[in-house]
Amino acid sequence: MSQDATIQQGFDDAQREVAADLYDAAFGAKLSIAIPDTRCRLAVLRQGFEPSSSFVAMSGGRVVGIAGFKTAQGAFTGGITFGLLKRVLGLAGALRAGVVLSLFDRACVRGQLLMDGIAVSPSMRGSGIGTRLLHRLIEHAREQGYRSIRLDVIDTNPAARRLYERVGFKAIKTERFAELKWLLGFEAATQMEYPLQPKA
Ligand SMILES: CC(C)(COP(=O)(O)OP(=O)(O)OC[C@H]1O[C@@H](n2cnc3c(N)ncnc32)[C@H](O)[C@@H]1OP(=O)(O)O)[C@@H](O)C(=O)NCCC(=O)NCCS
Repeated sequence: MSQDATIQQGFDDAQREVAADLYDAAFGAKLSIAIPDTRCRLAVLRQGFEPSSSFVAMSGGRVVGIAGFKTAQGAFTGGITFGLLKRVLGLAGALRAGVVLSLFDRACVRGQLLMDGIAVSPSMRGSGIGTRLLHRLIEHAREQGYRSIRLDVIDTNPAARRLYERVGFKAIKTERFAELKWLLGFEAATQMEYPLQPKA
């Protein structure tokens, strides 16, 4: 149940493996285009997370939900550098992964906090954890003086879009990449924003 879970910023190194499994359960299909081998993908995620750029839900001593974010100060997946990719995958694998991951990369805009992946453990979905993580992220962004939060949601993920709309995100624009559907598995992504009023 959601109420048993506590929300905190960041997690310690002992949780890296659980966090990587959870992130991969949510985004593995997309990430496997960049890094097809599951063991290598998990190794990259485990080592590439920057936990301070995340809020997590903890239950039973384990991470059961993650909301990563990106700002000018850092990004949850910001440790996935070319150097890390090369160490884990070798040069050819790193080149392939680097090119594909760059297609998903989004640049920060001044005054805006960017979401860097939200995922809840499959067995815990539908109990309010995603909603609580988003509310905590919104509170954090407001406290830090950001003017808005931005995210992208793909056309094949209506459940996530419903969640964002319910929390108060508004669609800004939709980009279409029909010619890349064979590679990405989706053909449109909608940019959504949550406007923030700074605390008085
Ligand atoms: C998207 C995701 C993070 C949502 O997390 P979640 O914890 O399931 O979200 P919530 O439980 O807060 O809300 C989901 C649904 O549960 C319902 N719900 C929320 N609290 C509830 C409760 N206490 N009891 C029963 N249902 C509840 C919500 O109404 C919502 O219903 P909907 O699907 O009709 O909109 C999760 O599905 C996930 O990890 N998906 C895979 C990764 C992904 O797609 N990430 C987004 C990329 S843009």
